[in-house]
Amino acid sequence: MEQVQFNSMMSMTASADLFNRFGVLLLSRGQPITATIRELLEKHEVYVWSRQNNKSDLTKQKKIFPKDIYTKLVGSLWSIYHDAKLIQPEHIEKTVSLVEAILKELKSQTIYFDSKQFNLSKFRQYDQGTFIHSINVALLTAVTGMNLGYRSRKLKNLILGALLHDLGKLRVPKEILNKPGNLTGQEFDLIKQHPCLGAEMLKNVRLLPGVIASVEEHHERWNVKGYPHGLTGSTIHLDAQIVAVTDVYEALTADRPYRQGIPPYQALEMIFAWSGRDFNPDVVQAFRQALILYPENSIVTLNTGEMGMVVAVNKQFPTRPVVRLLFDSNGRTLNKEVFVDLLQNLTCFIECVEFKEEAS
Ligand SMILES: [Fe+2]
Repeated sequence: MEQVQFNSMMSMTASADLFNRFGVLLLSRGQPITATIRELLEKHEVYVWSRQNNKSDLTKQKKIFPKDIYTKLVGSLWSIYHDAKLIQPEHIEKTVSLVEAILKELKSQTIYFDSKQFNLSKFRQYDQGTFIHSINVALLTAVTGMNLGYRSRKLKNLILGALLHDLGKLRVPKEILNKPGNLTGQEFDLIKQHPCLGAEMLKNVRLLPGVIASVEEHHERWNVKGYPHGLTGSTIHLDAQIVAVTDVYEALTADRPYRQGIPPYQALEMIFAWSGRDFNPDVVQAFRQALILYPENSIVTLNTGEMGMVVAVNKQFPTRPVVRLLFDSNGRTLNKEVFVDLLQNLTCFIECVEFKEEAS
């Protein structure tokens, strides 16, 4: 943290988060500085968090996906496919323009986005779950693919396949897709047909093998235990191996009509556990590097009840950042610097996070 002259920050709004010398937040970035607040701040030593850090393995890069573009993408995908029976070339043409919109936003190889933060109420009247899921999977797939060296046309086709991967679900009755509780064997068999149904819906259009594979093979597993064909290892197209990981992560974290999603760190730890069993370890590695769970400066609550701010994220262990505590478990402000390294304190974990929308 470095001290700043408050007078030098004179403006109508705070240009950064302002802290006192104990690290207690005095005013959030963007908040208006009224005459009373100005008077109070002038009595304090005002600090901002320093951006300098010498540890090279810590990453500060972040990219927050814009809410308005995200919402538009979901709406566009819905309007292209909601009543499609058989896909025609013009459907694909429109979808490629969505791929281009995604790529325009994703300039970096890391991403942070949280669809739960986005207001999608205008789509609630439709069975929009598949479309929200497909956009999320496409975003996660895009950054994972970039980390694996996908570029230009290859990358575009990878994203296209991710957008289309669950197309076959449009042919599965909604009551089964959204059924709370356990599915009967027959219902599950019906759901398991969606990869082949999706591939069949694409038979009128010319697409590269990777695109079709993302649709038909995204439920295949590295260890043969997947469906529909029981493929194994590298006989599964790499595009489909990537979509397999991002699809499972998204499905675990997303809220469904019948259950709440699990926290991102927990989903990511499950994906790690299944690396080499269900998923290609190289893909899991690229996915891990692509995802920012806790952007730096996000405010988190630990399972101990303490609250703090994420001050460093280790690329190798993104679920376990270093947290600078701000409040104890009783909500009292701390008057000394306490850092919790979650990599060292394995019984401690992040229970929830308050994200700030902040363009990088
Ligand atoms: Fe699927």
